Amino acid sequence: MCGIVAYIGPRQAYPIILKGLKRLEYRGYDSAGVALLNSGLKVYKKKGKVADLEETLVGKDLHATIGIGHTRWATHGEPSDRNAHPHVSANGKLSMIHNGIIENYGQLKQELENKGYTFSSDTDTEILLKFIEDIQINNKSGLEEAVRIALKRVVGAYVIVIIDEDNPDTLIAARKGSPLVIGIGKGEHFLASDATPIIEYTKEVVYVNDYELAIIKSDELILKNLGNEKVTPFIQKLDLELAAIEKGGYDHFMLKEIFEQPDTIFDCLRGRLDAEAGTITMAGVQNHIEQFKNANRIIIIACGTSWHAGLIAEYIFEELCRTPVEVEYASEFRYRNPVIHKGDVIIAISQSGETADTIVAIEKAKEHGAFIFGVVNAVGSSIARISHAGAYTHAGPEIGVASTKAFTGQLVVLMMIALKVAIEKKTIDQKRYLHLLNELQELPDKITLMLREKDAIRAVANKYKDATDSLYLGRGYNFPVALEGALKLKEISYIHAEGYPAAEMKHGPIALVQETLPVVFVATKDSYHEKIVSNIQEIKARKGKVIAVITAGDEIITKMADDVISVPEADEIVAPVLSTIPMQLLAYYIGVAKGYDVDKPRNLAKSVTVE
Ligand code: AGP
Ligand code: GLU
Repeated sequence: MCGIVAYIGPRQAYPIILKGLKRLEYRGYDSAGVALLNSGLKVYKKKGKVADLEETLVGKDLHATIGIGHTRWATHGEPSDRNAHPHVSANGKLSMIHNGIIENYGQLKQELENKGYTFSSDTDTEILLKFIEDIQINNKSGLEEAVRIALKRVVGAYVIVIIDEDNPDTLIAARKGSPLVIGIGKGEHFLASDATPIIEYTKEVVYVNDYELAIIKSDELILKNLGNEKVTPFIQKLDLELAAIEKGGYDHFMLKEIFEQPDTIFDCLRGRLDAEAGTITMAGVQNHIEQFKNANRIIIIACGTSWHAGLIAEYIFEELCRTPVEVEYASEFRYRNPVIHKGDVIIAISQSGETADTIVAIEKAKEHGAFIFGVVNAVGSSIARISHAGAYTHAGPEIGVASTKAFTGQLVVLMMIALKVAIEKKTIDQKRYLHLLNELQELPDKITLMLREKDAIRAVANKYKDATDSLYLGRGYNFPVALEGALKLKEISYIHAEGYPAAEMKHGPIALVQETLPVVFVATKDSYHEKIVSNIQEIKARKGKVIAVITAGDEIITKMADDVISVPEADEIVAPVLSTIPMQLLAYYIGVAKGYDVDKPRNLAKSVTVE
């Protein structure tokens, strides 16, 4: 969730903050801003790049020795100047930056509006800042106490840094769920989302923990918990080099993003799924539930990996909602003269929200009067804006060109939509509904478990890295996972790979099977298991090499396959989220073994904004 930088000390704050924000650009963002304290509060912020902000500040008086800076990855309110951070309190004295998501922002906003507060942005951040201000005024408390009281009410993830015109010698910061590092200098302090903006000034850092508050002066750092008890800062020595820190210690963004999936799935579910209460809260769906319930057809349009998410959604929506689904390549749909009825619901899936083929396909569907629902990762992107409604995947910026965490986020959003519609349509019973809610809630922990197989997967990758061709086979929900696995291998290692429904193999592709052909089976335990065992036998009978992704403990396939990769047990409807991860890691480790640039594979662009 993008970046924060702050400084207090003897030096000019602005150059340090600007350079720090540029160091954080790798984290992806859509807008930037700074606030400085020097004879009053000065706030400058703008949609776009840090360089765009810098350009607008040329010639301005930016002298200050205390300041805060922010790069935003929008979650509440589209990217715009007014939604950019820092935000300012109603009395104009406080300014705050925030990374994270305030889940109960709606409730806090209602309370503030009832007291007459108005808002100049659509963000959850401004609401939190004015909530803190309101407490400071009503309790006649200092800022530190007001922050502590406010944060006890907050539900969600945050790192916040606040400056106060009336106390220009103090920064106040706090964190829960989003990262905050404090650099300890000589008579100065640096704050940032990670160590990249800090490392050139000092290697002595304190990693602030959840529910901790930091009160920072040039020459003093006090840490407290929300119970107002002092906490001893644990000062560590940075031993990472700059380049490594950008990737969070991982060798590549792709690997970092694969390993972020427990957190990104947790963020995708956050504020939406409550398995105990048996509820799924998705305003975009709820406000159009009649369209979904009465849809005579759902048409899914997407490209690439997002198209694979659509194929899995087809199985899920038809199984749970009994609604006919068609999945279309956006690039084909847009040039056909498609038959679209008014009652059709179009689901457009896109990580970037800027894919030209998908945008044009949406516009064509809108001409026919269809209702468009966008499943998008980039908040405020074109597809998010042209859709009638939508749901964000909240996977955060995906820097690696090959889509990984955004894909699994798409699957979880689509599963929640299908479940919400199915229970409304009564096409599934409460028991199965609650069971699947629990299955979704357990995903972050199961993914964490799954990621422990990384070394086993790397060994398989090294064994087959010199293959020239490969087949990926699956059935049912795992068939699109096989397609996604083949695409990942092609994208990252440039090895030719084809995905097929496992049963389809006997209609021709089996002619390819020979000793040098690795065949990857996505064969987790499901209603097709017996059939896929036969398919594996067919390959083995022809001396093909079988790599099988199995449910942990599957002795039958373990005995048959040349190599197995285990995933935790899960209901077949949510299992694709887990069985995709070995696909991602297999492609990643083969690409690394072959010495390729796995973050920027040849010929590929992260967002195909051209036709
Ligand atoms: C994913 O690994 C690919 N890089 C690519 O197929 C991508 O999924 C496709 O271009 C669609 O992008 P979008 O999701 O941003 O619309
Ligand atoms: N939720 C806040 C917003 O949408 C902060 C997003 C971020 O982490 O950049 O403005």
